[in-house]
Order: sequence, then C-alpha cells, then structure tokens
Amino acid sequence: MNRFGFLIHPLGMQDVVRYAPNARGKREALVSKILEWMPPYQASLVTGVRSKAVDTPIEGHFITVPMLPRQFLEKDRDWVFEKVLRGALLAQSCGAQIVGLGGYTSMVGEAGKAIAERLDVGVTSGNSYTVVAAMEATLAAARAMDLDLTRSNVAVVGATGAIGAVCSRLLSRQVARLSLVARSRSRLQTLAEKIHAEGRCAVSIDNDLERGIREADVIVTATASGGSIIRADSLKPGVVICDVALPHDVCREVARTRPDVLVVEGGVIEVPGEVEFNFDFGYPARHSLACMAETMILALEGRFEDYSLGRGLSLEKVQEISRLAQRHGFRTAGLRANDEAVTSDKIEEVKSRIKDHRRGLSVIR
Ligand SMILES: NC(=O)c1ccc[n+]([C@@H]2O[C@H](COP(=O)([O-])OP(=O)(O)OC[C@H]3O[C@@H](n4cnc5c(N)ncnc54)[C@H](OP(=O)(O)O)[C@@H]3O)[C@@H](O)[C@H]2O)c1
Repeated sequence: MNRFGFLIHPLGMQDVVRYAPNARGKREALVSKILEWMPPYQASLVTGVRSKAVDTPIEGHFITVPMLPRQFLEKDRDWVFEKVLRGALLAQSCGAQIVGLGGYTSMVGEAGKAIAERLDVGVTSGNSYTVVAAMEATLAAARAMDLDLTRSNVAVVGATGAIGAVCSRLLSRQVARLSLVARSRSRLQTLAEKIHAEGRCAVSIDNDLERGIREADVIVTATASGGSIIRADSLKPGVVICDVALPHDVCREVARTRPDVLVVEGGVIEVPGEVEFNFDFGYPARHSLACMAETMILALEGRFEDYSLGRGLSLEKVQEISRLAQRHGFRTAGLRANDEAVTSDKIEEVKSRIKDHRRGLSVIR
C-alpha cells in the first residue's frame, strides 16, 4: 500500500459551518480565534483510488490545518509556517510517503521548499497538475464560446505566482496579446522579459487590476488575494474567465448580474476508481482538486520525492504530470462554476446575451 497525506483548510465561514454546524451564526472574528488555538488534525481517510495502469493500492489522510485564508495572509509568518509544518509532520506520522500542500498551505516557506526541508518524505504543492487543469478548462471554455485565441487579448491575474507564471508562459504561445497582472511591478517586469525572450506574443504588464483586465477577451485568474477581487463592472461583455483561485477571485455578483460573461473553475478533476474522500469539500462524488490529484498520482507512481515546489515551476514537470495523469485515468472534469456543471444551455444563453448586447438590445451593466 502506498500512502499519501494532503493538507486542507477551510476557505471561508461556509466551510467551517459545513464541518462544525454549531459555528453557524458565530462572528468570523470569534471563529478565527478558536481556529487559531486548534492544532492540525486528521480529517479523513481517502480510499478507493484505482489506477487503470497499475495495481498498486493507495490510501491517504486529509489533514486539516485549521486556519482561514485571511489568517494565512495576516498572521505572523513564522507562526503560520510552524502550524503548517505541524500539519505536514502529522501527515508524515500517519504514514504518508508523499505530502501534498493544499490551498494556502503551499504558499508558506518559499512556496513549500522550507516545509520539504523539514520532512523525511516527498512534498508537493500539486501546482503542476493545477496548471494542466487550468489550461484545459480555459481552452475548453474559449472553444465553447467560439473564441479564437490567436486573435484574443488574454489577461493572467496573479501572473507572477507559481501557477500564474507557467500559465502565462504557456498562453504566450497561442494568444495574440497577453496582459500580466499582479501587485508587484518589478516581478511582473521580470516575467515579461522572460516571455519576450521566449519570443512569443505581445506582452504588457499592469499592477492595476481593473486596467489590466478591461480589454481582455479571456482571463485566467490565480491570485492569493483572499478572494472576490474581480468585480462585475470591470469586465468586457463576452469575456471568458477561468478562476483557479481558492477562495475564488471572481465576485459572486458576476454570476447574478453579468449573464454575458462565462466563468468556469479551473482545477477540477475526475479521479479514477470508487474513491471515497469521507469528507465533503463541496464537489460531486469522485471529483477532486487538481492539487489533490497530483499527490495521488505521485503516490500511484511511487514517486516519493519533492515535486512541484517554489514559484518557478518547470514546464517539463507540467508536461510529465499531464502524461502520468492520463496513464492512470485522471482527467479534467467538464466545465463547472458556482458548484454546478456549466451546461451547453448555459453557454448558448451567454452567447445569445452577447449577440443581444452587440445589437444594442439589452443593457447588461
Ligand atoms: N484549483 C486548484 O486545484 C488549486 C490548486 C492549487 C492552488 N490553487 C489556488 O491558486 C491560487 C494561486 O496559487 P499559487 O500557489 O500560484 O500562489 P502564489 O505563488 O502565492 O501566487 C499568487 C499570485 O497572486 C498575486 N496576487 C496576490 N494578491 C493579489 C491581488 N490582491 N491582486 C492581484 N494579484 C495578487 C501575487 O503577486 P503579488 O504579490 O505581486 O500581487 C502572485 O502573482 C491560490 O488561490 C490557490 O489557493 C488552486
């Protein structure tokens, strides 16, 4: 039996209430204080993953690191690091031979490198397979909307991050113009120079979010902002958005007020076998996040080594994990948004709203 561990954390109050219903109605400040005192704990045992290529059985523990995204961003860095490290050590003591760092746990300690140095087993953020899933979802959504990427303006928000940087480099090979958006101009400049040197498309940088996405036909967003930074009134009619961030970068109001915009989640995977997570993280049966799936794939392969760590992910590893995922029968789920499948009816509705808008028949904003 090969064993993995995977660190998770609540993405917001709705997750806290799902796991601890008596938290309902409590103030976030109080809940945060309680989470602060709680040590990491075993949340569930994951069983039933079945590769189509090998007979190796695997199982794994989900370990909760009880912290909300805001706490990762605002608490003392050393304190956050120590708490994540305790979670990773707990996974190791449960027998994990590879430990995946989910959500914001992968952003501490030089994007996982310092955690890996303190463990005796392999560590990954799962970000290489997240890039694969995000690119597949983006391309599928653009195709569904009949968008020709070679003529499109594409923006990547969180472009200098672990996921954003590789997505930017991959997109630069197939789009007309790329707008790189994040807060630090100097890091954006460095990335833009790298993409220029690779000689692909026209590239601009912007540290003003609204300006950086205003002309975009397609947006891939993967920030660690704490969520809800992309507002309905910043978006061009007809834009396709792939939201990889957790919590999501796109405000909930977009679904309600912008029927002319297609938002899809990037990073949802169908897991092969009769997998039981024994834990409700809000996805349909047998579906997981790409970062969880990467950890499972490495466990199936017996690759108990450090894999996706740091902000400079390699294109080779992205290609390799894509190949390994196919070999074992993992695949990107159909398009999803707001906890449900994006149906062909929904896509037709968005297209018709765009047509109406072009003919001046409706006021969308
Ligand atoms: N769906 C999945 O399976 C999956 C898997 C793994 C991760 N994720 C999610 O993907 C996201 C990115 O992860 P990562 O590891 O790539 O993070 P990361 O390396 O920390 O990168 C975050 C990026 O966001 C930018 N950023 C942060 N706050 C911003 C703001 N307010 N406005 C604009 N840009 C901002 C950062 O640059 P500046 O600091 O310069 O702004 C950086 O470019 C996270 O939300 C994570 O939870 C999803």
